[in-house]
Amino acid sequence: MSSTRDDQALTSLLDLVPVVPVVVVDRLDQAVPVAQALAAGGLPVVELTLRTPVALDAIRAIADEVPEVAIGAGTITQPADAEAALAAGAQFLVSPGATATLVGAMRDTGLPFLPGTATVSEVMQALELGCTELKLFPAEVVGGVGLLKAIGSVLPAARFCPTGGITAATAATYRALPNVGCVGGSWLTPTDALAAGDWDRVTALAAEASGRVVEAAR
Ligand code: 3PG
Repeated sequence: MSSTRDDQALTSLLDLVPVVPVVVVDRLDQAVPVAQALAAGGLPVVELTLRTPVALDAIRAIADEVPEVAIGAGTITQPADAEAALAAGAQFLVSPGATATLVGAMRDTGLPFLPGTATVSEVMQALELGCTELKLFPAEVVGGVGLLKAIGSVLPAARFCPTGGITAATAATYRALPNVGCVGGSWLTPTDALAAGDWDRVTALAAEASGRVVEAAR
């Protein structure tokens, strides 16, 4: 882990951790403990999705109270999301898809960001916009490992964080691809574990994922 809040820039989002936890927080009081639990399991990076009313406050709470965690905002779908995430203290941005307008807005924040792509043409458009580090989403639905291999042969400049349908069992296969830096997923933070405050389970899942993926792929 090369990055903390004290770093001026997260130079490569894809090389921070092998697995980026994609987190949906329903209650604000879940934010700090889930971030702490993931860090305790060896994954001090959180992509907190803007999918619930408390998401921006959750980002702010983690930014303020869990400095060892690099906190990012996921599900950035419009320019205003990028600005709001920056204001809340997000250190990086992730979008499920990308338009030139959205890429411009994310770039304007000065934060590192991963635009979402799902096809060869979308990867080409992202490269045209100067983005070489991308999200592939929803990875399993759009072709997964096979698609990434095909893209790698024609667009080797693009590197990916695939997310969407990836599990502890498949993460290492993705990570072994030369054009994949890390994978993302929500399996580390099950809804029922967050609802129950079962932080030990989150830590155990994070420890399993970080150890397993690193061991198998590196
Ligand atoms: C994302 O936003 O990256 C996805 O929701 C994560 O996909 P998953 O829930 O299938 O892991």
